[in-house]
Amino acid sequence: MLSHWLHLHGIHSIVLEAKSRQHCEERIRAGVLEQGSVDMLRAAELGARLDREGMRHEGIDLGLNRRRYRIHLSALTGGKAITVYGQQEVIKDLIARRLADGGDLRFECGEVSVYGIEEPRPSIRVVRGSAEDEIQCDFIAGCDGFHGICRPSIPKAALTEYECVFPFAWLGILAEAAPSRDELLYMHHERGFALYSMRSPSLTRLYLQCRPDDEIGQWSDERIWIELHTRLGCADGWQPTEGRILQKGITGMRSFVVEPMQFGRLFLAGDAAHIVPPTGAKGMNLALADVYVLAEALRAHYRDNSAAQLDRYSATCLRRVWKAQRFSTWMTMLMHRLENASPFERRRQLAELDYVTSSRLAAASLAENYVGLAMEL
Ligand code: PHB
Repeated sequence: MLSHWLHLHGIHSIVLEAKSRQHCEERIRAGVLEQGSVDMLRAAELGARLDREGMRHEGIDLGLNRRRYRIHLSALTGGKAITVYGQQEVIKDLIARRLADGGDLRFECGEVSVYGIEEPRPSIRVVRGSAEDEIQCDFIAGCDGFHGICRPSIPKAALTEYECVFPFAWLGILAEAAPSRDELLYMHHERGFALYSMRSPSLTRLYLQCRPDDEIGQWSDERIWIELHTRLGCADGWQPTEGRILQKGITGMRSFVVEPMQFGRLFLAGDAAHIVPPTGAKGMNLALADVYVLAEALRAHYRDNSAAQLDRYSATCLRRVWKAQRFSTWMTMLMHRLENASPFERRRQLAELDYVTSSRLAAASLAENYVGLAMEL
């Protein structure tokens, strides 16, 4: 996305990707786009397939005690909504567009290392096959994820890391089943949280809270469906429809932020700088917001010879990041089974769920954050 924005601003870039094109296009990740992300993709001329195939949702359901409570996102936010469109679909559109525009995308890069990030001309060394290249550049964007090499290339003393590991994980399932409802359902259940989501008119995406040390082998398809029916089933008879399980995997849940998100001529974006728990569906949206800020700052640098926006890149992004952390943590603690919670904490949690599902003002706050806060530069 950053490379595409830069191209639209007339700035040349090279994208170095560790994995193959196929891997990037097939890996199942998040699927919820905030209103601002949809607006951004449209503004960047990437909205055509998104508008055709993306599923606009004007509400979500929160579930408690086998009952559903609708949060009318659009009515509570002046017409905003979320769009369900898989991250890998966004990736496909971006790769196709960059290649059509003559973009320099280099897949299957091996070892990558960065040098001189405090110098005016930093460089990147990259091994591809048996060839080793050295690329000189003006700036490096570290969009290489939590496990990438960019963040560790910054001197430790220059960074502060904030982290919180949650005592549960998500078992994610992709099922070949037509969604049996139109909107997402976040269900609080005494056996643990469950989420009903979707990817397309024929694919359902489902999640179950599980233990962080659970192994995928412990979760047979049969056990998964029993658990999904138990947790998601509603008093009015609604049940998720079953289908062949195409994929399953367990993901731990953590919050992580590094400050600042920049050092010299290296700028971190997305998961390289922050991880949110998935409950608020913020990960992809935060990454899109980061690179929007970075692209605008680089545009100001080249066009106006002004460093002001680049200098405050980290501060600008972190305001949004911390608010997304706040919201994702809040929603996580609201919806999950908290195993070691005291009876007091448990009562407080149920009262909070009762409040959100019965107060328009509380629901409006959820809705405002869920559809996404305004983009600020
Ligand atoms: C998803 O569809 O993958 C999804 C939806 C909502 C979330 C997290 C993941 O909060």
